[in-house]
Amino acid sequence: MVTETLATVEIDLIPGAQTGFFRSKESRLLFVAGQGAGKTRAGLQRVFNYSKCHPGATGVITEPIAAHLDYPLMQSWREWLGPLEGQALDVGWVERGRHGPDWRIEFNNGCTVLLRAAESPERLIGFEAAWAGMDEAA
Ligand SMILES: Nc1ncnc2c1ncn2[C@@H]1O[C@H](COP(=O)(O)OP(=O)(O)OP(=O)(O)O)[C@@H](O)[C@H]1O
Ligand SMILES: [Mg+2]
Repeated sequence: MVTETLATVEIDLIPGAQTGFFRSKESRLLFVAGQGAGKTRAGLQRVFNYSKCHPGATGVITEPIAAHLDYPLMQSWREWLGPLEGQALDVGWVERGRHGPDWRIEFNNGCTVLLRAAESPERLIGFEAAWAGMDEAA
């Protein structure tokens, strides 16, 4: 593992594709790899890093169907960032609107991560976003 520390959070990067994806400076990225290669986690690593570095920014993550926002998305988020949930730190976060039309993660630094299902495209309009990421984009 390559370990980078941000605030009180360690980002353990799997050497190879995940590390390259996390560190890339490209504005548009695609991570294609085998089952369990760490793609979902890699997306969350970029979300966390961006949110920490850009207070107040809003972005959106999609999963193909709403059920996948619970698993794997929020499960993977909590598996790594659970210790920051509800903490009084810039990168402390809370989950709001679970299963509703405005499901989101809010950081204390003003960042918002909108959680949306691509099966409900009508919920993918009406907001301004600094970034967007699709898990299971295929
Ligand atoms: N850098 C990492 N440090 C610790 N655990 C990791 C890391 N990357 C991935 N994992 C863990 O490995 C498992 C698989 O990772 P992940 O779900 O991101 O893979 P995936 O490529 O998205 O899988 P799938 O093909 O099923 O969508 C998960 O339990 C995840 O938490
Ligand atoms: Mg995945």
